[in-house]
Amino acid sequence: MALLECRHLQVHYGGIRAVRGVSFGIEEGEIVCLIGANGAGKTSTLKAIARLLPSSGEILYREERIDTLPAHSLIAKGLALVPEGRGVFTRLTVMENLALGAWHRSDAIEADITRVFDLLPRLAERAQQLAGTLSGGEQQMLAIGRALMGRPRLLLLDEPSMGLAPLMVQKVFEVIRTIAQEGVTILLVEQNARLALETCHRGYVMEGGHITLMDSAKNLMTNPRIREIYLGS
Ligand SMILES: Nc1ncnc2c1ncn2[C@@H]1O[C@H](COP(=O)(O)OP(=O)(O)O)[C@@H](O)[C@H]1O
Ligand SMILES: [Mg+2]
Repeated sequence: MALLECRHLQVHYGGIRAVRGVSFGIEEGEIVCLIGANGAGKTSTLKAIARLLPSSGEILYREERIDTLPAHSLIAKGLALVPEGRGVFTRLTVMENLALGAWHRSDAIEADITRVFDLLPRLAERAQQLAGTLSGGEQQMLAIGRALMGRPRLLLLDEPSMGLAPLMVQKVFEVIRTIAQEGVTILLVEQNARLALETCHRGYVMEGGHITLMDSAKNLMTNPRIREIYLGS
């Protein structure tokens, strides 16, 4: 059973057709990446799944149609998006940002905070610091930590490496792998195709609003066309 399935998903911005009928699925426990050039429609696809954009076509999550539901109802179902540009609340502290990730829950959040701090020790050291004073990499970790506070089953990550120094990129991706090992299914959007394919089991290639190829990460890495266009070799 697919955890997530999109059937003929389309997103328009006025006359601009950003996503032109894409169909794909993700099984529970997989790390799947969506690679593609700037403007290919990756962010629009993730936003439509998270119900932050209107779309047509069907989106099924655990065999339930979710394309008719409001965005806020998805968090309780275990679907979380870490948006492009992170979207942390810069004037709130790290701790306040994390607590907001669990706003829909009425039970205690201490155990989740501890888990996030174990996974992301840099945040623990900065718990009372305003999020706006964190480095880009720390803000990315906070955005991931905040999503984890909702106890996601499916995590959608949009360009987690964007704008980060190479060492910080490695750290963020170590965290992503650990989260996956703990059983969270991940849909990763990444312009850094090499890094994405090194991290994922399977990948979809998106071009001009279409999915043009799907294969195992291993096969995509050795595919001559993918190597030339996306891996620069
Ligand atoms: N808010 C918007 N208004 C109009 N066009 C948009 C908007 N956001 C994205 N687009 C257009 O939709 C297409 C896909 O964008 P996007 O989904 O952000 O691609 P990607 O994440 O792959 O870079 C692009 O042509 C982009 O210019
Ligand atoms: Mg994008």
